[in-house]
Parts: sequence; structure tokens; C-alpha cells
Amino acid sequence: MEPEIVEPPLSAHEQALIRASVSVVEPFAAEMTVYFYAILFARYPEVRPLFPQAMDAQRGRLLRALLRIVDLVDDPESLVRFCGHLGRDHRKFGTLGAHYPAVGECLLASLAHYAGPAWTAEIAAAWTKAYGTVAGVMISAAEQDEAVRPAVWPATVVHRLPRGHGIVEITVRPHLPYEYAAGQYVGVETPWWPKLWRSYSPANAPREDGTLTFHVRAVPGGSVSGALVHRASVGDVIRLGPPQGDMVLDAAAHSDLLLVAGGTGLAPIRALVEEVARRGGRHQVDLFLGARTSAELYGVDDMLRMAQRHHWLTIRGAVSQEHIPGIRGSLPDVLAEYGPWYQHDAYLSGPAQMVVAATKALTLGGTSPDRIHHDPFETPVLSLP
Ligand SMILES: Cc1cc2nc3c(=O)[nH]c(=O)nc-3n(C[C@H](O)[C@H](O)[C@H](O)COP(=O)(O)OP(=O)(O)OC[C@H]3O[C@@H](n4cnc5c(N)ncnc54)[C@H](O)[C@@H]3O)c2cc1C
Ligand code: HEM
Repeated sequence: MEPEIVEPPLSAHEQALIRASVSVVEPFAAEMTVYFYAILFARYPEVRPLFPQAMDAQRGRLLRALLRIVDLVDDPESLVRFCGHLGRDHRKFGTLGAHYPAVGECLLASLAHYAGPAWTAEIAAAWTKAYGTVAGVMISAAEQDEAVRPAVWPATVVHRLPRGHGIVEITVRPHLPYEYAAGQYVGVETPWWPKLWRSYSPANAPREDGTLTFHVRAVPGGSVSGALVHRASVGDVIRLGPPQGDMVLDAAAHSDLLLVAGGTGLAPIRALVEEVARRGGRHQVDLFLGARTSAELYGVDDMLRMAQRHHWLTIRGAVSQEHIPGIRGSLPDVLAEYGPWYQHDAYLSGPAQMVVAATKALTLGGTSPDRIHHDPFETPVLSLP
């Protein structure tokens, strides 16, 4: 259940104060991140175990989100949606309601430290109010969630299939029922990198036996992807966080779908195709697979087999850096050639630059932005090497 919609609790003046203070501290964001964690862990050593051993670039995300707090508070809908999700998702980190005042106190202390003489009691009061609002939504969403599902789902690896190009298909069986919708993604933690959570998209619609199959590509030097591709074997137990993401079939306003996938971005798109099949194939589906070279056109055989089984599914490849008769050109060009698509719901998944280019091409072609669905870009990782 979503928390109730609330009115923007900050006045325009308070919002202006917060924005102004962010612009004062922004040039020191990197130092401020280090300072923030240093005082948080010194004052509240009990929260240290929630965070991964090594300090890395990921760690900046919490503070970056905190600096954007005014955008959240400003917009009641995003406050409830985004912070509700965030609060529920924070359960997998082991976050408790009691930790929020600690983080708030250290956030304000860090802001005060870097804002220097620009920091006033009035600014501090505006920040306290904004943080309290966001934290309140996160805490109450987490509490409601606690009543209905676990914080994490242990899952045993039951199958492992190397697919070439450094990609492995890993099938896991959660120990408890795991409800998700085709097209969503899942936070994964491995036993080899405790507290390091990375997102992966199941490549299948929910199955009767409850198993999920992930397509994982080992990125160079990648911690979690490297462990999943090179270390995980049958019998190992990983942990799943709650499902996330809105790239689901129910978001489609129209019955015809345009699906666009690059690299392991194919995983959630494949799940959506399975979901259409599960629902009896009532959508006409055009699927475009993008890659730089034909060797990188990953998963194409599997998808062609699906197209043979399902008359409503058409598959086309777009290869940007090779000349192959019939499937040549960059994705935006190929999309433009086969369009128009403005009457379709579009689902895009793959490297950020591919999703951005395809979004631009579709928008130019008249597709309304609310009919273009894709996951957040936070980690620019879905491309092939
Ligand atoms: C919504 C969403 C869904 C995702 N779904 C999938 C999926 O289905 N399958 C999948 O394999 N991945 C998927 N990812 C990416 C995945 O979450 C991880 O980011 C990825 O596996 C790298 O994590 P890591 O811990 O191995 O690398 P890290 O240890 O975080 O990174 C190690 C180093 O590699 C660099 N690096 C990161 N990405 C790349 C890259 N693409 N190419 C080159 N260097 C890189 C980093 O900058 C860093 O220097 C998804 C990401 C998101 C946001
Ligand atoms: C208003 C309050 C908060 C906001 C807006 C916030 C926001 C965020 C965001 C956006 C992320 C990145 C999420 C991701 O990568 O999936 C994150 C990560 C995290 N947050 Fe929070 N958070 C808040 C409070 C807290 C509190 C109180 C704790 C508990 C001490 C906490 C612990 C964590 C941890 C452990 C991570 C993972 C960090 C990592 O992997 O390095 N957060 N937070």
C-alpha cells in the first residue's frame, strides 16, 4: 500500500534556502561524502555494518539523494512514490527507523561544516523539516512493508549456463515465495561481496516453480558481476532484495508493443515477451535487438525461436558497426525506418546511450513520453564489451 499523498510541506522560501545551501556545498560534494560517513561511523558505530567494507563511488549515492531532497519534497507524487519505494528497499540494507535521526544529524552537521558562514538557524530548520518529511515517508513505507513480506529472500543457485561474451545465465530458487512482475529488476547480494547490492533483471516471467533466471555479464573489474559469472555455482546461496521498476506490461496503455533491447538489456524484454505469451498473445510485439557487431547480437537465437512459436512477435536486429544485409544501421535509424511507433507503448532496455538515443528517435517520431518505459540509468552497465 502506498503512503498517503501529502501536500508540499515546505514553503517557497524554505525551498529556496535549501537550494541555495546546496549550491554552496556542491563544489565540495566529494569531500563532504567522506566527512559525512566519517562522522556517521564515529558517532554511530552501530550503522557501520550496514555498509560495504570498501568505500567506493557507489557510496556517494545516499548523499547525492539527500542533496536532491528538495526535489523530492517539492513534488508530493514523487515524494510518495520514490521515497516509499526507497524506504521499502532500504529494508534489505538492514536500515531501522532508529537510524534515520542519526543520518539526519550527520547530514546537517556536514552541510553546516561545508557551508561555513552561509549556514544559519533558518536554513538548518528548513533542512530538518525536509529531511523529516522524506524520512517519515521512508520509515512508514518500510513499516507497512514489514507486515507483508521479508526484507530479503535467500535464493539457491540451481542452474548455471555460460552463454559466451562473458555472459552467464544463472537460475535461482528463492527459499520463500518471491512475487515480481515481468520487466522488473531485483537487487542481488552475493556471499563473496557482503553488503554490495547490484541490480539484475530476471529474464523470465514468473514461473510456477518460482525460479528466476538472470543474464549476467562480467564487466571488467566488476565485483558482483565477476563473482556471479566466475564463482557462483549450483548450491550457492545469494540474497535478493524486493523487486523494483515500473517497466511492466500493465504500464502499457495500448495493445501494440515496441520492445528495444541492447546487450543483457534483453533480460527484462525477454521476460515481457514471455508475459505477453502467458496472457495469450493479445499484443502485437515488435522487438528490435541492438548491438555494435553481429557477434554481439546476444540472445538472438533464443528470441528467433520464440518468434517461430508466436505469430504476434516480430524480431529485427540492428547492428551499427557492421554491414550485414537486412539488419544494418544504428537502432534509431532502424527504428525510424520501420516506424511510425506513436501508437505503441515502447519498452527500452540496454546501455544508457542506446536508451537515450532510442527515446529521442521515438519522441521525434511522435511517441508521447509517458508511453516510453525504461529502467533508471544509475549504473551504466548493460552494454556488451
Ligand atoms: C535497472 C538495472 C538493471 C540491470 N540489469 C542487469 C542485468 O540484467 N544483467 C547484467 O549483467 N547487469 C545488469 N545491470 C548492471 C548491474 O547492476 C551491475 O551494475 C553490473 O553487474 C556491475 O556491477 P559490479 O559489481 O560487477 O561492478 P562494479 O564493481 O560496480 O564496477 C567495477 C568497475 O567496472 C566499471 N563498470 C561498470 N559497468 C561497466 C560496463 N558496463 N562496462 C565497463 N566497465 C564497467 C565500473 O565503473 C567500475 O570501475 C543492471 C543495472 C541496472 C541499474
Ligand atoms: C532520507 C533518508 C535517506 C535517503 C533519501 C537515502 C537514500 C539512499 C539512496 C538513493 C541510496 C542508493 C540506493 C541504491 O543504490 O540502490 C542509498 C543507499 C544506502 N542507504 Fe540510504 N537513504 C536514507 C537514509 C538511510 C539511513 C537512515 C540508513 C541507515 C543507516 C541508510 C543506509 C543506506 C545503505 C546501507 C545504503 C547502501 C550504500 C552502499 O551500498 O554503499 N540510508 N540511500
